[in-house]
Amino acid sequence: MLARRNPQLNAHGELIHLLSTEGLPRDILTHILDTAAQFVSVSDREVKKVPLLRGKSVFNLFFENSTRTRTTFDIAATRLSADVYTLDIARSSTAKGESLLDTVANLSAMAADIFVVRHSESGAPYLLAQHVAPHVHVVNAGDGRHAHPTQGLLDMYTIRHYKKDFSNLTVAIVGDVLHSRVARSDIHALTTLGAAEVRVVGPRTLVPGDFGPMGVRVCHTLEEGIKDADVIIMLRLQNERMSGALLPSSQEFFKSFGLTPEKLRWAKPDAIVMHPGPINRGVEIDSHVVDGRQSVILPQVTFGIAVRMAVLSIVAGNEA
Ligand code: CP
Repeated sequence: MLARRNPQLNAHGELIHLLSTEGLPRDILTHILDTAAQFVSVSDREVKKVPLLRGKSVFNLFFENSTRTRTTFDIAATRLSADVYTLDIARSSTAKGESLLDTVANLSAMAADIFVVRHSESGAPYLLAQHVAPHVHVVNAGDGRHAHPTQGLLDMYTIRHYKKDFSNLTVAIVGDVLHSRVARSDIHALTTLGAAEVRVVGPRTLVPGDFGPMGVRVCHTLEEGIKDADVIIMLRLQNERMSGALLPSSQEFFKSFGLTPEKLRWAKPDAIVMHPGPINRGVEIDSHVVDGRQSVILPQVTFGIAVRMAVLSIVAGNEA
């Protein structure tokens, strides 16, 4: 029987689309992080540009709201000298019922080279990757609750920046794991990169036992979950993806799983605190932690530019 090819890789094993961190080999993950490291300094230059994607057209298609991902993809493509077009979905013909595939076919007729896609339907970027021409690349900017691979990669970049070696690390992912595409992308990347222990932490309604087979430890108290952790990744409560009452109230959630300065003492003294944003202060995390010395939440955003530059240049085959 023929093995099914990873749709993100070409026949030579090169990354041509970025759809998920799941199934990406360790050498590709590491190559993306190493390439991003080369791009960090571009942001410090007077002229913040390199010519790697000159003449290429990058189309941003965000069918869900975004502040960080959309803006940093825009900055990343601009710093690579690409022409960047961000479709205003609310004013586009999507509102008249045009399908995703027809939208992309028409934008492809305008000579698109890369589509960056965020969509509420899990799998939408996979569908596009199956339908675009061979020279066109698709980058997933978040699909449903399935995957957010560039967030996963910028999280790995941030962890590597502060902690160097994954093999000694205990990483706790806390909160609404059930609805989180970030959690899934982080778990796949962390296990591939060899993190010593990955824990998912939260109430049973938001952290069901079936995460266990992903190679993580499931914890239902914050103390057990973050005890002696090196890295704590807090997640937003994704009320927009919850059907029915999964929590008594956000105050109850904060009491049990909200990260406060007092509870942060359960982790290692040099633990770093991360959050993909947007943050609900006082719901999943206390403001003193967000703005405290262990928080690396804003550096995550900054590293996102270099990581997205790396992803765009690698899938296009135009690397530094
Ligand atoms: N982390 C993240 O995806 O944030 P945005 O929704 O603002 O892009």
